[in-house]
Parts: sequence; C-alpha cells; structure tokens
Amino acid sequence: MTAESTLLDLCCGSGEVATGCIRHCGHIYAVDGSAEMLAQAPRAERIDYIQADVNDEAYKAPELVDHIIIGRAIHWVEADSLARLARANLKEDGRIIICSTCWGTEAAWFADYQRLTTPYKGGLGQRQIDTTGAGTLASIGFSAEDQLRVGRRLLVDIDYLIGHAMATTYGDRQIALANDFDNFSQRMRTTLSPHLVDGRLAMDVTSWAIVYYR
Ligand SMILES: C[S@@+](CC[C@H](N)C(=O)[O-])C[C@H]1O[C@@H](n2cnc3c(N)ncnc32)[C@H](O)[C@@H]1O
Repeated sequence: MTAESTLLDLCCGSGEVATGCIRHCGHIYAVDGSAEMLAQAPRAERIDYIQADVNDEAYKAPELVDHIIIGRAIHWVEADSLARLARANLKEDGRIIICSTCWGTEAAWFADYQRLTTPYKGGLGQRQIDTTGAGTLASIGFSAEDQLRVGRRLLVDIDYLIGHAMATTYGDRQIALANDFDNFSQRMRTTLSPHLVDGRLAMDVTSWAIVYYR
C-alpha cells in the first residue's frame, strides 16, 4: 500500500478498517449492506461510503482499485461474488487482504456472552467459521503471501459488547436483535455485571491480517 493506493473495503461496517487505513493510502471505497452500520461510520474526506450488497451481481466499484480489504467479514462474502469483484475491480497485481480480531475464550464471562448472542447470529455462533478466508481465496485462485499478528489485553465495558453483538449479525437476525434490543441489553447487563472489575471486562485479543495474491 502506498500513499496513492486506492482500496475497496468490503463489508466495511462502521468504517473501522477504512478509518485505520486512510492514513496510509489515497482513497477508499467502503461498502456495506447495512444503512445502520454505515450511519455510525466517522466521515472522512477520502473515504466514500456506499450502501450495497457485496453479493449482488450488479455491484461494481467506481474505479479499478489497488487492493481489496475485508475486515471480520469474509464469511459473509460468497466465493463467486469475491471472484467477480476481483475480476471487475482489482488491478492485475492487486492483493486481497483478509483481517480480523479474535478473542481469547478463556475469560470467565465469555461463555455467557456466547450463549446470549448466539441466537442472533443465524447459526454462525455455533458452527466453525473460516475467518481466514483460506478456503474461499484458494477456490478463486489466490494464495497467502504474508501475514501479521498483534496481540494485547483489552478492557471493555458492557456497552461495547452490546454494540459488538449488533455489528456481528446481519439481515433478519440483525433486525430481530434490533427489535429485541432493550431486552437483550438488559439480559447482557444482568448476566455480565458480576464479572466486572472497575466497570470493565478483560479479554485477550489478537488482530491479524493475511495478504493474498493471484
Ligand atoms: C463484523 S462487521 C465488520 C465491520 C468492519 N469491516 C470491521 O472489521 O470492523 C460485518 C459487516 O458485514 C456487513 N455485511 C454482511 N453481509 C453483507 C453483504 N452481503 N453485503 C454487504 N455488507 C454485508 C454487515 O452489515 C456488517 O457491517
């Protein structure tokens, strides 16, 4: 990535990845299907936020991009769609970067968090998701070239976890959670409060990125 690079940020959510990357590149087209998620994204001059379903055949970026980046969302992107998006929008030697953050599961409160949020994840909570995208990327002719991992301990409050639950669901399940929001928030507070230390819950997180080339 250079100061001139243009990125296509697929499933950009509230702009978490775009906001971090814009300091290192020229322009970002950041696409998400959820108007609610996009509404939370901090606006920046060189980031264009676009509402679109990335699996919709009609979606095309406004120009060819140097790299495609997908944060915490490769499991939402169909292999056929990613192949089409790469063919139509990615420069010849462009890379696809898959990044995510995984939480350590050892924390005493984690099982309660899983139990409360799983019903809103459309089964994603129970089944193993390939967050690295290795299978999807291999199926469309991309191989891993490089990777980066950064680990640290974070202290979060219950509001953060409620927001995180909203951000990790989509479609009908997200609507169900929005409709049940007050009740869900109350159950989260009641269940997780006993684990708070100075108003926070500790968790070990690892952020990682894998660079794929074709
Ligand atoms: C966990 S968030 C990731 C947000 C951000 N990229 C990050 O790393 O923090 C997943 C996002 O994928 C979006 N999403 C899921 N399926 C999608 C689709 N088919 N088209 C567009 N966006 C989609 C959701 O709306 C949600 O904002």
